[in-house]
Amino acid sequence: MFERLARLPDDAILGLMAAFRADSDPHKVDLGVGVYRDDQGRTPVLEAVRQAEQALLERQTTKTYVGSAGNADFNQAMERLALGEDHPALAAGRVRTIQAPGGCGALRLGAELIRTASPESVVHVSTPTWVNHVPLLSGSGLKLERYPYFDPSTGGVQFEAMLAALERLSARAVVLLHASCHNPTGADLTEGQWRELLALFKQRQLLPFIDIAYQGLGSGVAQDAFGIRLFCAQLPEVAVAASCSKNFGLYRERTGALHVISETPAAADAVLSQLVRTARSIYSMPPDHGAAIVHNVLADNGLRKLWADEVAGMRGRLQGLRQQVMQHLAKACPQRDFGFIATQRGMFSFLGLDAQQVLELRTRHHIYMTDDSRMNIAGLREDNLEYFAHAVARVLKAR
Ligand code: LMR
Repeated sequence: MFERLARLPDDAILGLMAAFRADSDPHKVDLGVGVYRDDQGRTPVLEAVRQAEQALLERQTTKTYVGSAGNADFNQAMERLALGEDHPALAAGRVRTIQAPGGCGALRLGAELIRTASPESVVHVSTPTWVNHVPLLSGSGLKLERYPYFDPSTGGVQFEAMLAALERLSARAVVLLHASCHNPTGADLTEGQWRELLALFKQRQLLPFIDIAYQGLGSGVAQDAFGIRLFCAQLPEVAVAASCSKNFGLYRERTGALHVISETPAAADAVLSQLVRTARSIYSMPPDHGAAIVHNVLADNGLRKLWADEVAGMRGRLQGLRQQVMQHLAKACPQRDFGFIATQRGMFSFLGLDAQQVLELRTRHHIYMTDDSRMNIAGLREDNLEYFAHAVARVLKAR
């Protein structure tokens, strides 16, 4: 039967990783997959994670099953990380959390929950959105539609167009939002815009599904969760998919959580029972190791402080790099305005090149980014910034 299957193209992001590894050019630059890199180009294990992992190895007495909802201590710690310690939804007993295999697993569980509750639901995603949102959400059978978001002429959010599109949605439509560090554009909503959206979500009775994959890497751990905290305090229902891949550097450990805020504690219990059943029917239980590490970090004051400092270090490097990238590009390509790179947040920005120019950067200059010219800022360093900026200038001049 398998001989009937067609060979599919490689994944748009993960395929680039393999192509980059296979490139033997000493000048090659990886701006593809969204992993943090330090100023030596490494993606290190965070020190807080290393210490928590060491403690785990010494203290762990069993590898027995944890259950489909995962590690209860981790789930509780993650709720407080997303919502803050004293959030009213927590006090009201309206929040339930299931540990998930990464942020992707959380997104898929959320989509499965929405489909179970309301099979006709449409999920509205930003234009553009992270490329893997589409298969993750539509794979559950939900229909996807788009709302305007990124304005390439300013590098910011087309907020009026976004509002106008969301105003036209019918009640109970699902809207996927990025909490911070929008992937792939780097263009985030301001606090004022979150407040305006809240009024609209209330009035139109929309269901927010918020993806938080970069908490701490944008403006701060609490600041990056501003929209989540606001929406969860004021709306009857919210779903939040959280990832520990970037802010804990746990990529391959597949560590994430889905938080669902329901109108009442009884509805919240029903939601969790559904999620547990879904997890059991797909992968039974999430992997424990990363979640146990995150719990150890967040539960220990010393490790938590060390982690917060390390996250602040990553954030500072990204913000500093953004200034440097903008300055190098301004010098190498004075005819073009790259000022938006310095005002955006997180790992990604669109460079604004077409697919042909991106291909030229890859084949001639060994600089790798996705075909839509999304670049991972963290892949740049003091010693390759000039090389990068000159390559971009040459590609632009070739037109
Ligand atoms: C990215 O957008 O590059 C990351 O989130 C990694 C991935 O899984 O695509």
